[in-house]
Amino acid sequence: MQPFFLSTPIYYVNARPHLGHAYTTAVADSMVRFQKLMGRKTFFLTGTDEHGDKIVRAADAHGTTPQDYVDTVSAEFRKLWDALGFEYDDFIRTTESRHGHRVQQFLQRIYDQGDIYHGEYGGHYCFGCERFYTEKELRDGQCPDHLTTPEFIQEKNYFFRMSKYLEPLRKHIEAHPDFIRPERYRNEVLGLLREDLGDLCISRPKSRLSWGIELPFDPEYVTYVWFDALLNYITALEWPDGEQFATFWPQAQHLVAKDILKPHAVFWPCMLLSAGLPLYRHLNVHGYWLVQDTKMSKSLGNVVEPLDFAEKYGRGPFRYFLLREMQFGQDANVSEESLRGRFNADLANDLGNLFSRVLSMNQKYFQGRTPSPGPIRPEEEALHVLASECLENYQAHFQRFQFSLGLESLWVLVRALNKYVDASQPWALFKQGQTDLLGTVMYTLLEGMRKVALHLWPVMPGESEEMLSQLGQRASVEQWPHLADEILRWGGLEPGTKVAAASSLFPRLETLKSEKSEAKQAKPVARAQGDKNIGGKPDATPAQKQDETLELLEFADFQRLDLRIGSVISAEPVQKADKLLHLHVDLGEAEPRSIVAGIAEHWSPGNLVGRQVVVVANLKPRKLRGTLSQGMVLAVHAPEGLRLLAPSGIVPPGSKVS
Ligand code: ME8
Ligand code: MG
Repeated sequence: MQPFFLSTPIYYVNARPHLGHAYTTAVADSMVRFQKLMGRKTFFLTGTDEHGDKIVRAADAHGTTPQDYVDTVSAEFRKLWDALGFEYDDFIRTTESRHGHRVQQFLQRIYDQGDIYHGEYGGHYCFGCERFYTEKELRDGQCPDHLTTPEFIQEKNYFFRMSKYLEPLRKHIEAHPDFIRPERYRNEVLGLLREDLGDLCISRPKSRLSWGIELPFDPEYVTYVWFDALLNYITALEWPDGEQFATFWPQAQHLVAKDILKPHAVFWPCMLLSAGLPLYRHLNVHGYWLVQDTKMSKSLGNVVEPLDFAEKYGRGPFRYFLLREMQFGQDANVSEESLRGRFNADLANDLGNLFSRVLSMNQKYFQGRTPSPGPIRPEEEALHVLASECLENYQAHFQRFQFSLGLESLWVLVRALNKYVDASQPWALFKQGQTDLLGTVMYTLLEGMRKVALHLWPVMPGESEEMLSQLGQRASVEQWPHLADEILRWGGLEPGTKVAAASSLFPRLETLKSEKSEAKQAKPVARAQGDKNIGGKPDATPAQKQDETLELLEFADFQRLDLRIGSVISAEPVQKADKLLHLHVDLGEAEPRSIVAGIAEHWSPGNLVGRQVVVVANLKPRKLRGTLSQGMVLAVHAPEGLRLLAPSGIVPPGSKVS
């Protein structure tokens, strides 16, 4: 078994951690736990990025020294990670000397071989990103990430001959399709590499900034914060000759959000190539957590406090929500309603209910002991096959960081177990005295639950241990079977094992008043944004409609409607709402619109993506079942089904209908 190394970004300490940072770290913690259960030796690295202008400015704003400031905020990150149950192997801080002297060693090495030179540079500098932008990268003259106007700075600096390594890097990416994943980010990087990226400025004159690592070959300069920060991944492993470096670096994987794709996918591999070091295995890139469709960020001030949710709903459910709600690679909205929705649907109704009903039945029928299975019927055989498939899918998805799909596969099994209870009616078997068959049914359920609980450990370690202990399993992970063995094996649970008499994990959350009134409001809108009563009463035939006398409008009234053509870029079902689909529609704006449409009975999500539709773009936004809807898709209720309005030929997204 190969070892496994996973890093998170090292976070800037210019502000306190928020849900975005917690997500990346939760993903890393879950992934590393998963690999542990797959039998691999693991290393989980995280830490804080503590140099640069941003930090000096933040310390100033707090009226303290940079060192005091970074000590305080870095400690807050560690405190939060502990509270969320993250078990990292090392926490590196770039102000530590173990980091600084190795950064200097690295710089000296590539300087000696001629990969660093002195030169003049002018560019648009964003302090938020700590990097220069080219004219082309700016959006309306502003940093696309921070929406601030960068400063034009011209000065003498040191440069890394990155251009020398861009072509070898491109070849490597071509030859290793999953070097950067998911694929959309690989394509983005290949696109970047088609532009002339040039060399990389890697110093700052001390006259402007002194809070950094001094260049070993010129004491008038400090190292550019990104060059310093990226090296944490190897300084923590004690490059060049540490044992950890030899063991783990060959299997290294990084985890980042798309905001820092370029430094990780371009700068960092070029630095490694220059130093003659092997490249990392995979760069795993996720999207943004949004609040009402805007990126959550400390610069924009719309952050969600992760600990609030974790304390209110439990850290396991919170971690489950993070991994289940975001399709790794894509953006996702966070709201308390969606968290509560997941909690009730997946954890209370499906999983908690399964444990509670099965354990109390087993107490009644077998006094809390695991029965021996009796005869195995086709029903049980089918369930065994389904369980193998679900677990195999779960594991394959997790290997590729597709946690949402993995958990969905596991829930296919959870729901199948609940259905199996209903179909096999243990209470009837008990009444009829069919003890052998009752043994089969209860054993099948308990063994299925053991497998589910084990596979949940990476995501909800505490709750998983609780479930396993209810099932009479040993407490320590080291004694657990490897996950891969669980796919084909049915029967890990020893008959005779004492299991808990009852279970009350994940008690259902009461519906909030605000949710009730929202559901009430949502109803008419759900239909108005959907099929039935578009253009008339639900049951009116086309003929009847023509008979109705409609009020005549002024042209100006019509003009108040903002009708636009949009391209559907994604479509997904809405939890617990059979009729609704959640669409993302490109209207040529900075961000696609989130639109909830009542068309799920007529359109499958796969048939919608890529289509152009007509959207009422100036409806007041509202929430439907906890999902923001910022528009309405126009449709016709025809005898054959629901027809969507569309232009007769493809037009640019956002085109106005007039
Ligand atoms: O960029 N959604 O640090 P940083 C999802 N120090 N993830 C988010 C997020 C959001 N809205 N906001 C932040 C830096 N993140 C550098 C990194 S690495 C050598 C140096 C997460 O504090 C996500 O992982 O700005 C993102 O890449 C990272 O925090 C940026 O953290
Ligand atoms: Mg940032």
